[in-house]
Amino acid sequence: MKQIVIASTNKGKIKEFKEMLEPEGYEVLCLSDLPDYKEVEETGTIFQENAILKAAAVTNQYGIEAIADDSGLEIDAFNKEPGVHSARYLGHDTPYSYKNKVILERMEGIENRNCRYVCAIAWTKPNHEPHLFYDTVECQIALEAKGDNGFGYDPIVYYEPLQKTMAEMSAEEKNAISHRGKAIRKLEAFLDEAHK
Ligand code: IMP
Repeated sequence: MKQIVIASTNKGKIKEFKEMLEPEGYEVLCLSDLPDYKEVEETGTIFQENAILKAAAVTNQYGIEAIADDSGLEIDAFNKEPGVHSARYLGHDTPYSYKNKVILERMEGIENRNCRYVCAIAWTKPNHEPHLFYDTVECQIALEAKGDNGFGYDPIVYYEPLQKTMAEMSAEEKNAISHRGKAIRKLEAFLDEAHK
């Protein structure tokens, strides 16, 4: 059976990738399955760089096919911050209820509320060129937090076409329009082609 490593410890991400790759005939492993894995620092200044850093670290250390994703929220009025710092913004362990409250306060009086979620997925395999899959979803910072679904910044990220925040969407609704959903579908198409 073909083995592939999801270079992540995030349970939600691993679950999403497993659901997609197991039907394709992959045995899906994650970082906790790798003995003595040496974590890489996410030193990249763009999502694509960090995704490649994480996937290539696994392929280089273990000689195995790997996938990594890096994602985040860009707020135009904040010069595209938190961006690649989204997980660490205002402290890695700070609850998102607090992070979201601070963002809403800092947005007070600002007219341009445009923001986007970004997702970069890197695929690496020994003796192959790395491949990147990238997508975004254009949104606005809501006027108030709404909804209990999703995670992270979802309650304050408003998606105009559905007139809801990301946290008011069902998983299926979010997946159909989200940065990660769209990037995963590009990866899926590539793997289908690669294994024909
Ligand atoms: P990563 O795991 O280093 O790629 O960090 C991703 C971070 O971006 C998450 O911890 C969230 O803060 C933010 N993020 C990315 N995608 C989403 C999403 O779909 N909803 C809410 N927050 C997200």
